Amino acid sequence: MRKRSNEEKRPAHEEKRTKHERRLESDVFDRPSLMAISKLRQQGWFDTIDYPVAKGKEANIFCATNSEGHKVAVKIYRIETSNFIRMHDYIDGDPRFAGTSRKRFETLLAWTRKEYSNLKIFYEGGIAVPKPLAFLRNIVVMEFFGEGNIAFSTLDQLKSDHPQKDYDFLLTQIKKIYQLGFVHSDFSPYNIVVTDDGLKILDCAQAVLLAHPRADDFLRRDVENLVKYFRKQGADADFDRAMAYIKDGKPVRRGLEALL
Ligand SMILES: Nc1ncnc2c1ncn2[C@@H]1O[C@H](COP(=O)(O)OP(=O)(O)O)[C@@H](O)[C@H]1O
Ligand SMILES: [Mg+2]
Repeated sequence: MRKRSNEEKRPAHEEKRTKHERRLESDVFDRPSLMAISKLRQQGWFDTIDYPVAKGKEANIFCATNSEGHKVAVKIYRIETSNFIRMHDYIDGDPRFAGTSRKRFETLLAWTRKEYSNLKIFYEGGIAVPKPLAFLRNIVVMEFFGEGNIAFSTLDQLKSDHPQKDYDFLLTQIKKIYQLGFVHSDFSPYNIVVTDDGLKILDCAQAVLLAHPRADDFLRRDVENLVKYFRKQGADADFDRAMAYIKDGKPVRRGLEALL
């Protein structure tokens, strides 16, 4: 796999860059979010927020530096533009978030906590995800995958040099997640980043427990996405074989252990 920094997300021209930065920043730096950032800063998770890295479906991601000069990623969920109805499809029925109201802001708080909780379980379970560091309100701080202030590219922006190896690795990751008692539920090339240390899986907020009524639908969708992408790249990828591989052996359910 050819690793490349995510240059296209950073317009070259200085004036354009400023506009780009402004666009990325404007919808997350409301006063309460600024106060949460300030608190995380006081807690020592980072010193300065340096650069907007990307604007995803639901969050803006920034690169920050801590007092030791190490980079961290700061993911700030947008209060105004997040899709709250869709979020409930993945929250409802999860015992960690029982009683979460359907109010916009409470949904977003549960969603942020869900991403942190899932990342922690996955990271500790040996899955290739960013190390979660902290969360507060609508913000998650985690390990940053990039060079300088620029994030590494995601799989949708690169052509795999080793499609079979990459396919086998990601299928094993889906199986490991399944064995931890979860389905990622948003497994796509947009959420896989190509780092110095191999492929890493992002965007874990929507991951559901196997007890979720739609866990099997989400698993089939994840596997379909993976098989489709890698078949195009020339890998020997087959949906039925992949499903049989994942489901071979008993999942080790975490259930209520997953509570924060
Ligand atoms: N920890 C990270 N390190 C480097 N880049 C990241 C990290 N987290 C997210 N990104 C970048 O930000 C983009 C959006 O992040 P993601 O978690 O997928 O948010 P969303 O839920 O809004 O889709 C990713 O496609 C990736 O380019
Ligand atoms: Mg994403």
